[in-house]
Amino acid sequence: MTLIFAHRGSAGTHPENTMEAFYEAERVRADGIELDVQLTKDGEMVVIHDETVDRTTNGKGFVKDYTLKEIQKLQANFKFKSKLFKKNRVPSLREVFQWLKGNDLLCNIELKNSIMDYQGLEEKVIGLIKEFGYEDRIIISSFNHYSIVACYRLEPAVEIAPLYSSRLFMPWIYAQSIRAKAIHPNLKAIRDEMIIEAMNNGIGVRPYTVNKVDQMERLLNLGCTAFVTDYPEKAWNLRENKKG
Ligand code: G3P
Ligand code: CA
Repeated sequence: MTLIFAHRGSAGTHPENTMEAFYEAERVRADGIELDVQLTKDGEMVVIHDETVDRTTNGKGFVKDYTLKEIQKLQANFKFKSKLFKKNRVPSLREVFQWLKGNDLLCNIELKNSIMDYQGLEEKVIGLIKEFGYEDRIIISSFNHYSIVACYRLEPAVEIAPLYSSRLFMPWIYAQSIRAKAIHPNLKAIRDEMIIEAMNNGIGVRPYTVNKVDQMERLLNLGCTAFVTDYPEKAWNLRENKKG
């Protein structure tokens, strides 16, 4: 069965990377969530997509220049165009992990360290995964492939998966070479035959960001491992209808 990962929570309907977006993913029966992690000035792991807070909050400046306490005073729904959301905060990764205790969702952590070189990010993330015993529920991905290999070396029991957006040649061979069990390509970077070939070679495929019905149907029909979507409810309904 193709699994459904709710992108940044349920970013199509809720303010991205907030607890409310993750609650929504659980409510609509997604199989997992995807979220983005950066480090604050005081070295805390926070769930926010950009290196700056400007696009998604009412603050300005780099995440790395805020302490956890300071960043959590910002409104994470500030730019989200809906009056339904009033007081959403930037969550810490620890908060998300606490909430995961109450459900069976998988969690794809994207390390956002392609632009910022967050010292110690890999050690902190792996440390938290081990503290909670989530080794079999987490997939660590990144566009920074050195970083995911560093994670694998720290804890081989935690799955890693490279993110990429160009059409790689035989990406399953590359994945095997870095001990990744899956690839996370941009949907535009992967053709049907590449998905099939990767899966036939034991490498899972979880394309992003799959929001249109025809794109979802294509992947469901192929039996693709999973996909990442801003609209997990729509994806769940489509998958359910196909069963019938
Ligand atoms: O999971 C893949 C996807 O989240 C990567 O792109 O920019 O949405 O973090 P982005
Ligand atoms: Ca992401």
